[in-house]
Amino acid sequence: MSEDEELLEVENLRKWFELRKGLFSSPLYVKAVDGVSFKLKKGEAISLVGESGSGKTTLGKTILRLYEPTGGTIKIKGRDITHLKSNELMWYRRETALIEQDPYGALPSFFSIHRILEEPLIIHKFGNAEERRKRVREVLEEVRLTPIEDFAPKYPHMLSGGQLQRVAIARALTLRPELVVADEPVSMLDASVRIEILNLLRELQEKRKISFIYITHDLTTTKYFSEKLFIMYAGKIVEIGDMLKVVHNPLHPYTEALLKAIPDPDPRNREILRDVPPGEPPNLVNPPSGCRFHPRCPYKMDICQKEEPPVFEPENGRFVLCWLHAKK
Ligand SMILES: Nc1ncnc2c1ncn2[C@@H]1O[C@H](COP(=O)(O)OP(=O)(O)O)[C@@H](O)[C@H]1O
Ligand code: SF4
Ligand SMILES: [Mg+2]
Repeated sequence: MSEDEELLEVENLRKWFELRKGLFSSPLYVKAVDGVSFKLKKGEAISLVGESGSGKTTLGKTILRLYEPTGGTIKIKGRDITHLKSNELMWYRRETALIEQDPYGALPSFFSIHRILEEPLIIHKFGNAEERRKRVREVLEEVRLTPIEDFAPKYPHMLSGGQLQRVAIARALTLRPELVVADEPVSMLDASVRIEILNLLRELQEKRKISFIYITHDLTTTKYFSEKLFIMYAGKIVEIGDMLKVVHNPLHPYTEALLKAIPDPDPRNREILRDVPPGEPPNLVNPPSGCRFHPRCPYKMDICQKEEPPVFEPENGRFVLCWLHAKK
């Protein structure tokens, strides 16, 4: 497969969670992901950004088929994996990995670091004991938990948060996956180690040519995965574009609001924060009609409450769900 080819294609993907219902009432759904389409090339890294509750984790887990999709399609290298049964999904589990927010909760406390890293290799019947040991050493070196002899026999409680996240990254990479979703991988770590973990992730993503989805609520950290920004709001991706273009000229009013909410490092400029539109993210059981951002949007027009905006492409390679960009 050449590097220009699509690795992942997601089309009109939906993941709705059913809420508990009364005996005679019709079911209600949390529409956490509600019609998401995009493509990801081999070796491409993108940042998926949005407020808490916008559906980022659900989208990441649905793409990895850790959740069963409600609708739409997911294709990897042209193969439709949307509804593969769990016994058919083994190869997809090998090709993909999730790095989660909480390294403390993600790693089993009763296994040594060596065993934690060997486990996926055993499950996927990789090599013999010697080949597995070699691979474990390789990934420990890659995440710089050295000297290896010191770290391999340790248990999770003996490591710091940053070291544990390195183990979680190593575990995600043991089977050399092609697609990795990192869901807020540094948000639970001390500020002092965040940058080194993000730099490490970026370095490994480039070295191994991994297609990488970096999920964050914090736009300031997206510069480590700088090719493209995907902005998510209320279950939909509302803007996609090259990072620098989006940051310098946001097309969606929500993106504009997110950028204005970044605190200026210079305290004299902090009032800029006032420009964030008031209001809360919408209820995803019964989202607003038309454009879901309309109750908070300073530019809203009549059509915005009535009709949902389709995807517009006002510039080559830039996609936005907003009536402001409809061709006049
Ligand atoms: N397992 C679940 N069951 C029901 N609702 C869920 C479940 N997981 C997430 N949700 C809901 O889906 C919405 C999106 O959540 P999530 O994907 O975690 O957003 P984010 O990662 O952007 O914070 C939220 O309203 C959340 O409460
Ligand atoms: S479609 Fe209308 S309400 Fe929605 S973001 Fe654009 S201008 Fe605002
Ligand atoms: Mg989340």
